[in-house]
Amino acid sequence: MATMESLIGLVNRIQIACTALGDYGGGDSALNSLWDALPSVVVVGGQSSGKSSVLESIVGRDFLPRGSGIVTRRPLVLQLHKTDGGEEYAEFGHMQRRRFTDFSLVRQEIQDETDRITGKSKQISPIPIHLSIYSPRVVNLTLIDLPGLTKVAVEGQPETIVEDIEKMVRAYVEKPNSIILAISPANQDIATSDAIKLAKEVDPTGERTFGVLTKLDLMDKGTNALDVLEGRAYRLQHPWVGIVNRSQADIMKNTDMMYARRREEEYFYTSPDYGHLASKMGSVYLAKLLSQHLESVIKAKIPGIIALINKGIEEMEAELDRLGRPIAIDEGAKLYTILELCRAFDKIFKEHLD
Ligand code: GDP
Ligand code: NA
Ligand code: MG
Repeated sequence: MATMESLIGLVNRIQIACTALGDYGGGDSALNSLWDALPSVVVVGGQSSGKSSVLESIVGRDFLPRGSGIVTRRPLVLQLHKTDGGEEYAEFGHMQRRRFTDFSLVRQEIQDETDRITGKSKQISPIPIHLSIYSPRVVNLTLIDLPGLTKVAVEGQPETIVEDIEKMVRAYVEKPNSIILAISPANQDIATSDAIKLAKEVDPTGERTFGVLTKLDLMDKGTNALDVLEGRAYRLQHPWVGIVNRSQADIMKNTDMMYARRREEEYFYTSPDYGHLASKMGSVYLAKLLSQHLESVIKAKIPGIIALINKGIEEMEAELDRLGRPIAIDEGAKLYTILELCRAFDKIFKEHLD
């Protein structure tokens, strides 16, 4: 059924609805459990391992803040929606009326919205920023970008920041429904990768970890990363994906993302070391792999999701009865909107089940 809304798109909408409702019902409400039950892809890695670059390559757009130090200071929930055509645009959860078509303004808004909560203090905050990108060139996918794991606080940052970041990242990757996108640079020993160290701890069997090896082009001449890419150095259930992102010089020169994607593809196809793996390397392949995996994981969870949605509907109906319309019109109206959404979700999910 081609016209059916994608499962990933549906889960996106529930995630936004759950967030909008805030901490309704406390920690053990059905909607909170629903939030935990929804799978998403979480990006983890050390500082400068190439996280932002991988995300930008997956989107095919330049839109993330960059610089030295800890640039990502709030989780960014990035939802990609594949459209049938038309203009590419972005929308933020905190200002849904505005459509961004200039992606340098998206970058500015992520920075401004980060500062709005953290007060330019270079502190971090666990409150996520929601960003949706609508484009015919993306795959349906939700990715959560997190602050990079770091070992030392830089000047002006509180000493606790190292621990705070690790705590935040851990809270995401520990969720059994998180799919971990573990980013490590090829020009460092894989045994020292922060991403793999954490993934190993929370997902020892490697069933929900996707290993990504960036910076293949920066390895010393005469060496290659076949030991990692072929799964001998660190074994995961899913195959490793090698990546060649834009270099710092490319970024300074404003090298076009689409050009960089083609160049990456060419790198693999013409490489004497990686030629035999070429069809399973690169950011375009990674995006497809993740989208397919996410879709299948969601599919397997549909019955559980439907059960939680229905429990949520019951809870909200009871809550609405209790509130009574005139007493708390705002809270009631909000609940009512979510209730209607849940009923709609229930219906569409059941169609996917058939
Ligand atoms: P993050 O801190 O993990 O988000 O890392 P970034 O994506 O900002 O990348 C850090 C630096 O490494 C930037 O200057 C990138 O241009 C560069 N970089 C990232 N990936 C690659 C790659 O595959 N090859 C090359 N040559 N440079 C890369
Ligand atoms: Na790393
Ligand atoms: Mg970054």
